[in-house]
Amino acid sequence: MNRWLSVCLLAAVPAAAAPTFSKDVAPIFFKHCAGCHKPNDIAPMSLLDYKSARPWAKAIRASVLTRKMPPWFADPKHGHFSNDARLSEAELATVRAWVDAGAPEGEAKDLPPAPQFTEGWQLGKPDIVIDMGETYTVTPNEDAYEHFVVPTNFTQGRWIRAAEIKPGNRKVVHHVHVLMVSEDLSKMEVASTKNIPALSQYLIREGKLSRIRQDAPVVNDACADNLPNLPFLTGSQEGGLAAFLPGRPPDVFPPGTAKWIPPGAKLEFVIHYARVSEKDEKDRTSVGLYLAPAPPERVLRRLDLRNFFFQIPAGAAKHEVRRCYEFEKDKLLLSFTPHFHYRGKDVTYEVSYPDGKREILLSIPRYDFNWQLVYRLKSPKFVPKGSRLMVTVHYDNSPNNKANPDPKQTLRWGDRSEEEMMTSWIEYLDAKPDGPAAQTSEAARIRTPEETRRR
Ligand code: HEC
Repeated sequence: MNRWLSVCLLAAVPAAAAPTFSKDVAPIFFKHCAGCHKPNDIAPMSLLDYKSARPWAKAIRASVLTRKMPPWFADPKHGHFSNDARLSEAELATVRAWVDAGAPEGEAKDLPPAPQFTEGWQLGKPDIVIDMGETYTVTPNEDAYEHFVVPTNFTQGRWIRAAEIKPGNRKVVHHVHVLMVSEDLSKMEVASTKNIPALSQYLIREGKLSRIRQDAPVVNDACADNLPNLPFLTGSQEGGLAAFLPGRPPDVFPPGTAKWIPPGAKLEFVIHYARVSEKDEKDRTSVGLYLAPAPPERVLRRLDLRNFFFQIPAGAAKHEVRRCYEFEKDKLLLSFTPHFHYRGKDVTYEVSYPDGKREILLSIPRYDFNWQLVYRLKSPKFVPKGSRLMVTVHYDNSPNNKANPDPKQTLRWGDRSEEEMMTSWIEYLDAKPDGPAAQTSEAARIRTPEETRRR
């Protein structure tokens, strides 16, 4: 903002009305910041009380005005999101005026009650808790991406209305995905690369990590015609159960919906442990499952779109990779979670409808690996059969990308953060309610590999 404008704005606020922490600023911090800025959470300081917040006043002003905080990356020109984290213009003005007035505390009587945070489960006591089955030791400077498979011991299928992942050790657990694996599901080629036989000839495994061979065929544009016959360039994979990502609230499924866990299913925990330098750290992460009281009207599903066959040249500043998906029936889209690593630069989700119209559902002009946010649509997006979703990602593998661990590398798909991924998780419902017949036999609705491949 230029000086003239700030002077005008300041002049417009009478001196007596200078905002105070207690009256004006605390409500903003409690609502928009406290989720991460509370004791023992991921942010460096608490913003729950004046004493903790005051030394950060200047940094707070800068970080909110540049919209570095709260983290949110969707271009406001496209789509409306129920979890939009941005401060309103009025809230921004209040924070700025407060800092410019010397960050006064105000009067204790004006202070609203601070939000209460429960230790442990945020959603309350789960009906079923399943942990990862062992205690894992993270050694200093290790960047580990680990898989743990544990049985549910479910003899009958369960409908789940919510799932909360509880990291065993917040210091080292960067993100967690919990996927379902079962006899049924492995037939339909689940999300984890370990369970995908068709892909294995292109994979190199080192311990628990996998990556695509450097000499595997290259397809950067999986939206092109006449694609080679390689796994997962078309169609979709059925997605996981729950995710824990920095700044992401637990997965509570929308009213009237639930996810299905088939009998005999196993859960696979995929955990990314971030580097910590001092000493060994131990972790035992678990997932809490909350049972739905009855079968839902609609089954909540996730379609996972990946392009395993991209290749990012060394030094490339804006390398494009695409993946498309044709809707085989009417669907209601609920949320998007893009997932790339350090070279991810931007991503766009665009639909072209059968009538030829196009619409951008989500655009992220500046992707940041540290903030793996979910973008939940304010209202479900109806996408008719015959539409096509195009995911376009750009990667910055140049030295100008500050996060880039090594611009000299030619990159393929790999589990390690130093390698790359091209993944999108999209939660959806079938537009037509599933109805009681389908509910009694959810297994019948699980696609066969043949069906998956045809799409
Ligand atoms: C989703 C979690 C999250 C939310 C919400 C969030 N922060 Fe942060 N904030 C962090 C983390 C983590 C860091 C430290 C890492 C970093 O700077 O990226 C941080 C760093 C900061 C810093 C230090 C920046 C610097 O320059 O060192 C300030 C100031 C800050 N946050 C203010 C705020 C304010 C004010 C809000 C609310 C309006 C807010 N944050 C909301 C997670 C969050």
